[in-house]
Amino acid sequence: MIEVHNVHKSFGDSPILRGITCTFETGKCNLVLGGSGTGKSVLLKCIVGLLKPDIGSITFDGTIFTNNKIEIRQEIRKQIGMLFQASALFDSMNVFENVEFPLRMLTPDMSKEERRDRVEFCLKRVGLENAGPKMPSELSGGMKKRVGIARAIAPNCTYLFCDEPNSGLDPLTSIKIDELIYEITHEYGITTVIITHDMNSVVEIGDHIVFLHKGLKLWDGTKDEILNAQVPELKDFIFSSSLVRAAKKVEQEGGTIETNVGEPIQGE
Ligand SMILES: Nc1ncnc2c1ncn2[C@@H]1O[C@H](COP(=O)(O)OP(=O)(O)OP(=O)(O)O)[C@@H](O)[C@H]1O
Ligand SMILES: [Mg+2]
Repeated sequence: MIEVHNVHKSFGDSPILRGITCTFETGKCNLVLGGSGTGKSVLLKCIVGLLKPDIGSITFDGTIFTNNKIEIRQEIRKQIGMLFQASALFDSMNVFENVEFPLRMLTPDMSKEERRDRVEFCLKRVGLENAGPKMPSELSGGMKKRVGIARAIAPNCTYLFCDEPNSGLDPLTSIKIDELIYEITHEYGITTVIITHDMNSVVEIGDHIVFLHKGLKLWDGTKDEILNAQVPELKDFIFSSSLVRAAKKVEQEGGTIETNVGEPIQGE
């Protein structure tokens, strides 16, 4: 479990995080939800140590990370996998070398054969067993995300952070990437934190959701609770989508969702 306690972060005179307290549960997909500019990425950077909170602390499974000794911070960092917003693959390395990279950095005692086996295992797990020799420029956006996930989990991460894993992907590919992250999280018991503003992800994989608004945590709960949450800012956020509004109406009143294309969506 990751515990975030009273985290504040300002840039100059602008307070961005204004006292965030929340937990991210082990073996679950924990979503940080909120509009653009609310401080989601800043919170993630504070958690993984890319930014230092002005006030507050972060604890990983009982070990304090913030302001702790460098050796302890490094030990925790080794257990963190990151999927960056733009996948951030190394353009000059092929897919195999990209996934192998963190193993070379973090596990120098691993033999070449062990590394090869681990890379092949991870590429197979994300459905890219034959893509090793390909260069990033030859991959689609969804394939790049898959390689990013394989690279993040290659060193057997305990904690996985994904900043907007669906950005730039079509809805179907987005769902496939969400499902892959969800499966990997539950299969390996990883504490996964996903930054998103995608309501599809919330209803698909939101085991636990933290809603941020203007640097404050206004709500947390599960995907089953979110549609009935009574926080006005959260309701505005959720029901800004006309499809979600229509789905909610169907749930309450029965009937069908009227769409302009294809068959109407049936309610229960
Ligand atoms: N290094 C920085 N220096 C100054 N201001 C920053 C820095 N990083 C972020 N900010 C500011 O903090 C605010 C929150 O940024 P953040 O990137 O966390 O937003 P976000 O919630 O992730 O938004 P989005 O959904 O658009 O990615 C923004 O106003 C941004 O300009
Ligand atoms: Mg962001």
